[in-house]
Amino acid sequence: MSDIGDTMAPALVVIPTYNERDTLGGVIERLLVVLPALHVLVVDDASPDGTGELADDLAAADERVHVLHRAGKAGLGAAYVAGFRWGLARNYATIIEMDADGSHAPEDLPRLLAALAHADLVLGSRYVPGGRVVNWPRRRELLSRGGNLYSRLALGVRIADITSGFRAYRASVLEKLPLDDIASQGYCFQIDLAWRTVRSGFTVSEVPITFTERELGESKMSGDIVREAVLQVGRWGLRRRREQLAALLRR
Ligand code: GDD
Ligand code: MN
Repeated sequence: MSDIGDTMAPALVVIPTYNERDTLGGVIERLLVVLPALHVLVVDDASPDGTGELADDLAAADERVHVLHRAGKAGLGAAYVAGFRWGLARNYATIIEMDADGSHAPEDLPRLLAALAHADLVLGSRYVPGGRVVNWPRRRELLSRGGNLYSRLALGVRIADITSGFRAYRASVLEKLPLDDIASQGYCFQIDLAWRTVRSGFTVSEVPITFTERELGESKMSGDIVREAVLQVGRWGLRRRREQLAALLRR
């Protein structure tokens, strides 16, 4: 995408990390080869494995790389909100979310950014034609597909991969969302933000990506993360139905 290099403030990729020492360096290196004008912000929650120190070394060696250190593991959502604030304060026009474990291919990012010319939020989607998941256990894919189906039914949004963690926002979207109010901690955060984006009248589009399960390190997925998503999405769905009913009765 030519205009990333040309705009005044380059795009910022926010990468939350918790124990990702084995993969973070490779992901950042590939990103900056694919799109040399990018800036990267690592948001580390005091990883015991030394990911934060590694990120400091990378930042010292390359001025495009920055690090935000947080006191302890507080969930993906809080890390992203802190990263978004950092990016908005520095006037980046585009803010990207990406995992540190190599599941998201930096080589797919130019297509996400190209699509951002015609949408306010672009999701890298595993579940649109051309999208793929590689090496996920059947169990995990069912959970992800089930979560998407549940979200579509509860929220009435036509998004195939609303939990995707590889996405690009126009900064104007994040400026408008009430970041202070976002309490979602786990992967439910992804649903929360996409849902708020839609409800605020912004446009969302999806481009196919290949998601490859990590080979190193461990997923932070847990029972609590699943429970939070099921409960929250259920609540938002009920609220939506109540609002629809109220609107109907007013007529
Ligand atoms: N700072 C911080 N704090 N980072 C975290 C935390 C946290 O508490 N929890 C997870 N992360 C980081 C990981 O280090 C990784 O870079 C990224 O968030 C994604 O975490 P994974 O644990 O690798 O997620 P996953 O592979 O199980 O889940 C993927 O699929 C989900 C469902 O579709 C991700 O792409 C999620 O974003 C996505 O919602
Ligand atoms: Mn992962």
